[in-house]
Amino acid sequence: MGNQDLTGLPVKVKLPGPEASGRSRIEKLIAKRRSVRRYKDRKLSESVISRLLWAAQGISSEDSLRTSPSAGALYPLEIHVVTGGSELEPGVYRYVPEDNTLIQEIAGDMREKLSNAALSQPMIRSAPVSFVISAVYARIAGKYGNRGLRYTYMEAGHAAQNISLLGVELGIGICTVGAFEDEEVKNVLKLPANEEPLYILPLGYI
Ligand SMILES: Cc1cc2nc3c(=O)[nH]c(=O)nc-3n(C[C@H](O)[C@H](O)[C@H](O)COP(=O)(O)O)c2cc1C
Repeated sequence: MGNQDLTGLPVKVKLPGPEASGRSRIEKLIAKRRSVRRYKDRKLSESVISRLLWAAQGISSEDSLRTSPSAGALYPLEIHVVTGGSELEPGVYRYVPEDNTLIQEIAGDMREKLSNAALSQPMIRSAPVSFVISAVYARIAGKYGNRGLRYTYMEAGHAAQNISLLGVELGIGICTVGAFEDEEVKNVLKLPANEEPLYILPLGYI
């Protein structure tokens, strides 16, 4: 009864481990993940870009469900790849999960402008690639109304975490950036009026 106060409720339970339960591969990745803001000056391969995008929003089932959970499987997120330091031609591309392709939307290196739109955070200028996760709320609002907003933010978190953990495995450093001017990012990426930027993830080899 040493664990109980006068109400009979337990007050403190010392949990085993975490070491006691053993360190699985995924626990090691979780433990190792840190925000990384400096990257090697080395071109990111298309293969690594593909794998990171797949981790975020790729197709992982025969009925087209994706790697991140999505309320009602309505998938409000888009991912844009902003690059000037990869095997891809410098530019901005939109990821299409259904056939694992990138559609070029803008030609030319937009990293400097994207950095300027994000309070001039230097790692967005220096990273070979930034992913920009954005959302089309209309896809989810029909079913969930305003609550769809929070579902969309939750999903962006799932996607960013999947990218971050695979990044640890692949030796790719990533920072999750929320501080930016929405309208400026929309202008730089030429996003449609109904699409809102949520997260910028600069990334590169550590
Ligand atoms: C929603 C969100 C927004 C963030 N925005 C920024 C940002 O704008 N710039 C930045 O350098 N780091 C940003 N971070 C990263 C945090 O600074 C970082 O996660 C925190 O310092 C803890 O360090 P760790 O990620 O290495 O554990 C953000 C993190 C989250 C979750």
